[in-house]
Amino acid sequence: MTKIKACLFDLDGVIVDTAVYHFQAWRRLANELGFDFTEHQNEQLKGISRMESLELILNWGNVSLTEAEKVEWATRKNDWYLDLVKLMTPNEVLPGVAKFLTDLREAGIKIALGSASKNSKLILERINMLDYFDAIIDGNNITKGKPDPQVFLMGAEATNALPSECVVFEDAVAGVQAAKAGGMKAIGVGSADVLTEADFVIATFDEMTLERLNF
Ligand code: BG6
Ligand code: MG
Repeated sequence: MTKIKACLFDLDGVIVDTAVYHFQAWRRLANELGFDFTEHQNEQLKGISRMESLELILNWGNVSLTEAEKVEWATRKNDWYLDLVKLMTPNEVLPGVAKFLTDLREAGIKIALGSASKNSKLILERINMLDYFDAIIDGNNITKGKPDPQVFLMGAEATNALPSECVVFEDAVAGVQAAKAGGMKAIGVGSADVLTEADFVIATFDEMTLERLNF
């Protein structure tokens, strides 16, 4: 059994439930373009970049836009999203997260963020959690999105851990796949029916302990 040296956390849907705000803002975009999409379809948007999400949504609505229009709509969506983010408070940190991060720090296990979001620092500031992280790798640093393992491999490097010494926490199918592609353990956060490729799945961090990292 390899000793775990670093835990790599996705942000949206793992530390905090910004997934609902993304959904709200993307739905507003779809509605303004004359269509709608379901919460079920929204699962596919988790973990992937802003522009990839836009492409999928436009496909669902059979809408074609020029590249310049795509950038305009993506910016509009981000502005709506940030209006919601600005209202966030530390109370929105998901159950058990702060306690588990504190336990990790006390045990000397490094903590890194591995997120596709370009807004991650702003969100961590809003919820008062920036200080927990030894490294932040996000949409501003990466060239390849999940399910490519790049974001987590960079997190491993930044925390001086080998992939086999890392555990990734993810709520997205693409994120679990990224962890596995990088040779890391993956603990799903959410539903075992959705996150079938994870090593195991927790509903919330209230279920997570240091002992459960070593499996
Ligand atoms: C991921 C979310 O964390 O970040 C995706 O799961 C989102 O839904 C992606 O599209 C990019 O986020 P942002 O904040 O840069 O638009
Ligand atoms: Mg996520």
